[in-house]
Amino acid sequence: MCGIVALIGSREAAPQLLEGLRQLEYRGYDSAGIATIERTATGSGQLHCLRAEGKLINLTNRHAAQGAPGQCGIGHTRWATHGKPEERNAHPHLDGSGLLAVVQNGIIENHRSLREELQAVGVDFRSDTDTEVIPHLVSRRLAELRAGGALASGTLLLQAVQDVLPLLQGAYALAVVWAQVPGALVVARRAAPLLIGLGEGEFLCASDTPALAGFTRTILPMEDGEVALLTPLGIELYDAAGTRVQRTPTLLSGTEHVADKRSFRHFMLKEIHEQPETAALWVARHLPVGGATGPLVALPLDDALLDGLERVQLLACGTSRHAAQVGAYLLEQLAGMPTDVFFASEFRYGPPPLSPHTLTVGVTQSGETADTLAALAMEQERRRAMADPAYAPRLLGITNRPESSLGRLVDAVLDIGAGIEVGVAATKTFLGQLLAFYGLALALAERRGGSINGRSPEALRQLVDQLRLLPEQLRALVADHDRRCEGLAHRFVDTRDVIFLGRGINYPIALEGALKLKEISYIHAEGYPAGEMKHGPIALLDAQVPVVSIAMPGSVFEKVLSNAQEAKARDAQLIGVGPEGPDTEVFDVLLPVPAVDELLSPLLTVIPMQLLSYHIAAHRGLDVDQPRNLAKSVTVE
Ligand code: AGP
Repeated sequence: MCGIVALIGSREAAPQLLEGLRQLEYRGYDSAGIATIERTATGSGQLHCLRAEGKLINLTNRHAAQGAPGQCGIGHTRWATHGKPEERNAHPHLDGSGLLAVVQNGIIENHRSLREELQAVGVDFRSDTDTEVIPHLVSRRLAELRAGGALASGTLLLQAVQDVLPLLQGAYALAVVWAQVPGALVVARRAAPLLIGLGEGEFLCASDTPALAGFTRTILPMEDGEVALLTPLGIELYDAAGTRVQRTPTLLSGTEHVADKRSFRHFMLKEIHEQPETAALWVARHLPVGGATGPLVALPLDDALLDGLERVQLLACGTSRHAAQVGAYLLEQLAGMPTDVFFASEFRYGPPPLSPHTLTVGVTQSGETADTLAALAMEQERRRAMADPAYAPRLLGITNRPESSLGRLVDAVLDIGAGIEVGVAATKTFLGQLLAFYGLALALAERRGGSINGRSPEALRQLVDQLRLLPEQLRALVADHDRRCEGLAHRFVDTRDVIFLGRGINYPIALEGALKLKEISYIHAEGYPAGEMKHGPIALLDAQVPVVSIAMPGSVFEKVLSNAQEAKARDAQLIGVGPEGPDTEVFDVLLPVPAVDELLSPLLTVIPMQLLSYHIAAHRGLDVDQPRNLAKSVTVE
């Protein structure tokens, strides 16, 4: 989704802005732009603004042809919300004088009334965006302040922005430059991320950490409602009330913020291949080698979060919701904990009645999904409003980005530690989320003691021992299915619809298989619980519609095989995901997965789902890593 980069210092800004935007490309965008302020002989400056529709290369070419000098500037990649993805809607947006430029992420919800108010006093709008009200409002405020005798300065620009922010409703991160003060940059955030990177005599602001990689590791994440004035000499940081704030910068950890495709054709393929490593790290961090007596899992969770728990509610979107569905199955079947899964976007407008002693878990790889954050914040608020401590909020986040907005909102985080995921289609972060749920379910099961749903404490320990084998199993599976799925991809050249079937704990994996295929190949796909086929979807089947069926030994194995027979009787091409053997001979093609404990099977069955989608999309020559219309982190509601 939209990305912001802003730089102030002593070197040419445009090349660094373009490089920062390149690092944010993975988030998804449809146009891009930069504005720089060139210091002129008079001491004030000249604003240069370049914008281009489509990929960043178009903007880079424009920069090569026209240039954009100056040591202070702002840049943006836009993912269209208000107004089509055309150059005139690309950021930066300017005020009427062309001296002030703004880039913004998020949505200004009251932009219509602000636009009408400005138009009524003669302001001309050049775009259809919500953002354009901001440069006009700041410019109007600057004019008012200057009419009162104030001189152009960074402090004046800061004050004008501070005065305008309360007029804006909604979520935003923004950066503002003004030609009258070439040595000043003002940035602000509310409910959208913004980080300040501290270099030597220069500062780089960005909406996401990859843009800072290669520039600095020292960062100052801005808090909600904060505004900052940046000059080459330093940072002045203010809270929403206008009080000056002092905060110690933090360090970005490891190399996980650097996006590198290595020798893989696409980031998505590389990330699928990284899953054994994701699993190995998780095993090393969370499964202590304690013999028969030590704790089953080690999780960084305080007792207060889990003591006396009666219910869990999971809020998530897209792939993260599928992980949550597997998680709910585990929490109920392994830990006996009643669990509900919600679409975060629906929860906010129709939450269930409050239940006591409830853990609310936000599941989001990016930690920035607006729907999930809003649902969590709403739940926190309505629980805080209750006098009865039984209803007090207990918020947990499961994320790949502990430093994200989610991390700041919740009481505790399970960091899935998968390293940066660039492909818009989530793969290794999905596996990481699944593992977080295995950890949580095992921890809760252990706290409860005794047998749950027929699983004794010894049986739980055996499950943990099997989990330790996961990295090796994944290594073999990824290598095998990479080859097999590549060989299958040509069969899908003319395919228009695919059905994915699963039952029990593998039903969410069928949903995930269908979502992955839709996202990157643009083939229509649906996932169903296999038993539901006969209640309607079976009408869709004929020889043109492949059916991918997950059939893993366990409680529903025979049932799934019967459902597959029903599809076969309608001439559907059957692709099975299950163990080799006489039972699975019903399938036209088998993507073999070793027989493991049914409860662990999603960790394996998801691999052929990911690789099948990947190879079908790659075979079609599509932009696998940045599929059309999608964004890596969906920061609008
Ligand atoms: C996954 O492949 C998708 N890109 C999408 O469904 C994603 O899972 C969803 O937008 C939620 O994102 P989050 O995990 O960052 O909250």
